[in-house]
Amino acid sequence: MCDDLDSARMDASAETTAFAELQAGLHATFLFDGAELSPELAGAPGASDAKGAFKKLAVAFPDDRRVAIAGLGDPEELTTERLRIAGALIAAEAGRRAATEVAIDLEPLERSSVEPADAAEALTEGTILGSYRFDRFRSLDPDDPPPPNLERIIFGSAAADALKRAIETARISAEAQNRARDLQSLPANHLTPTTLAERAEELAAEHESLSVEILNREEIAARQMGGLEAVSRGSYEEPRLITIRHEGKGSGEVLGIVGKAVTFDSGGISIKPSAGMHEMKMDMSAGAAVIEAMGAIAALGIPHDIVAVVPSTENMPSGRSMRPGDVITQLNGKTVEVNNTDAEGRLILADALTWCVTEQGAARVIDLATLTGAVLIALGSTYSALISNDDDFATTVEGVAARTGELAWRLPLHADYKKLTTGTVADLTNAASKREAGTIYAGSFLEEFVDGKPWVHLDIAGTAWDSEREYAGKGPTGFGVRLLIALASKLAVDADAGQLRDNL
Ligand code: BES
Ligand code: MN
Ligand code: ZN
Repeated sequence: MCDDLDSARMDASAETTAFAELQAGLHATFLFDGAELSPELAGAPGASDAKGAFKKLAVAFPDDRRVAIAGLGDPEELTTERLRIAGALIAAEAGRRAATEVAIDLEPLERSSVEPADAAEALTEGTILGSYRFDRFRSLDPDDPPPPNLERIIFGSAAADALKRAIETARISAEAQNRARDLQSLPANHLTPTTLAERAEELAAEHESLSVEILNREEIAARQMGGLEAVSRGSYEEPRLITIRHEGKGSGEVLGIVGKAVTFDSGGISIKPSAGMHEMKMDMSAGAAVIEAMGAIAALGIPHDIVAVVPSTENMPSGRSMRPGDVITQLNGKTVEVNNTDAEGRLILADALTWCVTEQGAARVIDLATLTGAVLIALGSTYSALISNDDDFATTVEGVAARTGELAWRLPLHADYKKLTTGTVADLTNAASKREAGTIYAGSFLEEFVDGKPWVHLDIAGTAWDSEREYAGKGPTGFGVRLLIALASKLAVDADAGQLRDNL
């Protein structure tokens, strides 16, 4: 499994050495609208092309150095998201110049209100995410130079020590996100539920705080997970129910995280049109994000107890497949009429959610899933949809999402939508006859399986792939990895603050 994950490990650090003294293949500095370059830089060849406008990048050549000058627009409007984007533009320039090291100047950012540690964090993330590539299946011509490979990011800052923790958190998070992107990129003949489960085991072997339990086809059936059993029945590939625990020894209640991992979604008997079907290798994106986020949470030692559940299967047509009209019984005893075998995600998530909250002791749960095409129509690739039964938890997740740039927009639940999910011969039906409110329908369905616990659902079908955000580009985005890490940190901090109050 390891062999398939080829995202490079990056070295990111801060040094108190002045920017001008740092040694690197590419230097990078910033220019705000209306600001002037330093006199030393201003006279250098190339410097006259530099612009303060956001997303503009020019390269100047003072002495023997190459200095990328990234425009950041109005200093009042500077955000960490803009810095992530600037980081990606710098990484692209490093790629073009075949530089393996970039030295970044934080000094110009002092004119803005973004804290230096937050700036270093965002720039580290943007640079690492922006230099992601997936070349595993491409043959290299031995006569060609090797593809560019950024190995090191250095920040010059007088306050280097204060930045170290932020940079290290950013590096671990962004590298986990790039590994999730590797998993997303792998086609279904390379990434199966079995190999995905092996990846979870590999992480558990690496980190003391992690333990993993894997259920196979017989065990899934024996535990009455009728949804996962039914979806996987048509497939030769074995399904897996992956449970990963992080023992963070925190004072807060256990957080549950669930991620859909359909390694290939053909639609099953309700088969999808062939034109875009190959894209459905990405239907495991949420599960990959959850698994890699757990690795990072462990690496960072976040003091919060977490149980992650990833139901993984293919959805294939065969003589053994579930049929439209079949009635199945989910783990919590509710019966479902499977009117559309392509609405498979909700069936496997239903069992995973029940498993997480009633058998694994999660006090609250967040699930991520590439669940509906409808979310792309509603929100495009900018926001994922957030659906929740709990305003406080929803607000917490929205806040975290805004900070990491993995945006989420809340859609409502309502009794009217619930009526649509009622079955004709069973408790529920997995798909409505009309296409109205498809994303909310799926959320309403999932709510039936969380046992009334605080729950947030993120439909990431639009944001997991081709988001065209500068640092994510085309292809896999690794959406959710940094959000989950940040959520775990936030809950750990909040629980500690709560305990402090209780002890006063
Ligand atoms: N995996 C798909 C959703 C999807 C669509 C993910 C586009 C990524 C990009 C999901 O299993 C699915 O097929 N959903 C159906 C549900 C419908 C049959 C009720 C859909 O959205 O069409
Ligand atoms: Mn489907
Ligand atoms: Zn699917």
